[in-house]
Amino acid sequence: MKYAKKSKSYESIERVKKGLTAEEIRGCYACHTTGYEKPGGFVSIEKTPHLKNAGCEVCHGPGELHVKTINPQHIKRHLSVEDCEVCHIEERVRAFRYKPMIHGGAH
Ligand code: HEC
Ligand code: HEC
Ligand code: HEC
Repeated sequence: MKYAKKSKSYESIERVKKGLTAEEIRGCYACHTTGYEKPGGFVSIEKTPHLKNAGCEVCHGPGELHVKTINPQHIKRHLSVEDCEVCHIEERVRAFRYKPMIHGGAH
């Protein structure tokens, strides 16, 4: 929450959004928020402020059931590069000259 850039990913949109259309800004949400356009995910800053940043669930998947049952089977525990490539697409990684590491980004 304190150090990972993901925990401030909504601020990144705010910082550079000047000049972008509302539609272009919505285009940022898929990667910079949690669960945009997915059931229970980010809708808007007014309706779902607690999901505005890219949180645990962008990697570990929806966690509601796991929280209720405390059952480790009910959350994604082991991740692969494919889980990252949803957002860290090759093009973008190259643009940032940055190769995400499987154990980076959150912990
Ligand atoms: C839902 C989209 C999404 C997924 C999935 C995702 N990331 Fe990210 N990640 C981001 C965004 C957005 C940022 C940049 C946040 C910012 O600076 O605004 C980021 C930043 C990072 C950074 C820089 C972190 C830092 O704190 O300096 C690393 C490393 C990283 N991600 C690794 C990963 C890895 C490894 C995975 C897969 C296990 C992964 N990410 C999955 C969206 C995602
Ligand atoms: C396909 C996923 C994706 C989309 C869509 C996306 N971003 Fe990102 N963005 C990322 C990832 C991943 C990073 C981190 C790259 C890294 O460090 O490897 C990032 C980084 C950034 C950063 C740099 C943050 C920093 O301080 O280093 C800014 C600013 C940013 N994005 C703004 C935006 C804006 C504005 C939009 C919409 C117009 C947008 N992004 C759309 C995935 C995405
Ligand atoms: C960038 C992707 C990413 C994000 C975001 C993320 N994690 Fe993880 N998490 C991982 C990876 C990768 C592992 C190591 C999985 C493995 O060992 O195969 C892991 C492991 C864990 C484990 C240990 C699981 C086990 O069974 O050993 C816990 C607990 C955990 N994460 C909780 C969290 C919590 C809580 C958050 C939010 C505060 C969070 N994670 C956010 C990628 C992420």
